[in-house]
Amino acid sequence: MKHEIVEKNVGLLVVLILVVISFGGLAEVVPLFFQEQTNEPVEGLEPLSPLELEGRRIYRREGCVGCHSQMIRPFRAETERYGHYNVAGEGVYEYNFLWGSKRTGPDLARVGERYSDDWHRAHLYNPRDVVPESIMPAYPWLFENTVDGKSTPAKMRSLQTLGVPYTDEQIENSTAEVRGVQEITALIAYLQQLGTVLKGTR
Ligand code: HEC
Repeated sequence: MKHEIVEKNVGLLVVLILVVISFGGLAEVVPLFFQEQTNEPVEGLEPLSPLELEGRRIYRREGCVGCHSQMIRPFRAETERYGHYNVAGEGVYEYNFLWGSKRTGPDLARVGERYSDDWHRAHLYNPRDVVPESIMPAYPWLFENTVDGKSTPAKMRSLQTLGVPYTDEQIENSTAEVRGVQEITALIAYLQQLGTVLKGTR
C-alpha cells in the first residue's frame, strides 16, 4: 500500500508534513501582502524626520524596547489604558519594528503628546524625580552626548530603498538638520510622535 511507504519512511513523512503545514501558513500570510488594509499607510502617515530617526536609533541603542512594548492589542483593558489598538497601516514605514514583547514599563505605542517635553527631560534624567516609585533606569548621558548625523543620510537611503518615501533633498539635508543636537532632544522628538497619526493630531 502507498500509505505504508509514507508511514515507514520518517524522512518522507517529515517532508510531507512540512508541505501540508506550509499550505496553512501560506493561506494565512500571503493574502496580507496584497490587502490594502495591511500594506497601505494610514492617512497622514509621514516617514520619521531625520531628528526622529536619530531618536529612534537612541531608543534602540539604550534598550528601551526591553522594557517597553509598542503594541496595543485590541482588548478593552489595553485600549482603555493606552488608546486605540495598533493598526498595520501605522507601521508600514517601520524597519525594523519595535513592538517589543515585555512590559516592565507601560506600552509606549501612543505615548506621543501625552506628556510635555519638559516632563520627558526630567523623567529620562532621573525617573524618580517625577515618579518616586519608578524602577526605570536614569539616562543622564543623553544630556551630554550630541548627534553627529554622519550616518543619517545612509540610514535614510536604505529606508528609501525599502519603499519609505524620502526625497533625495531630505536625505541630502539630513546631516545638517541633526548635527550637534543633544541626544535627549532627538529621543524626545521620537517619543512625541509615537502613535499620533491615528489620533489625527500630527
Ligand atoms: C528596566 C526597565 C525599563 C527600561 C530599560 C526603560 N524603562 Fe521606561 N519605564 C519603566 C517603568 C517601570 C516605567 C513606569 C514608571 C515611570 O513612569 O517611571 C517607565 C515609564 C516610562 C515612560 C512613561 C510612560 C507612561 O505612559 O507613563 C516613558 C515615556 C518611558 N518609560 C520611556 C523610556 C525610554 C525612552 C527608555 C529608554 C531610554 C526607557 N523608558 C527604558 C521601565 C523601563
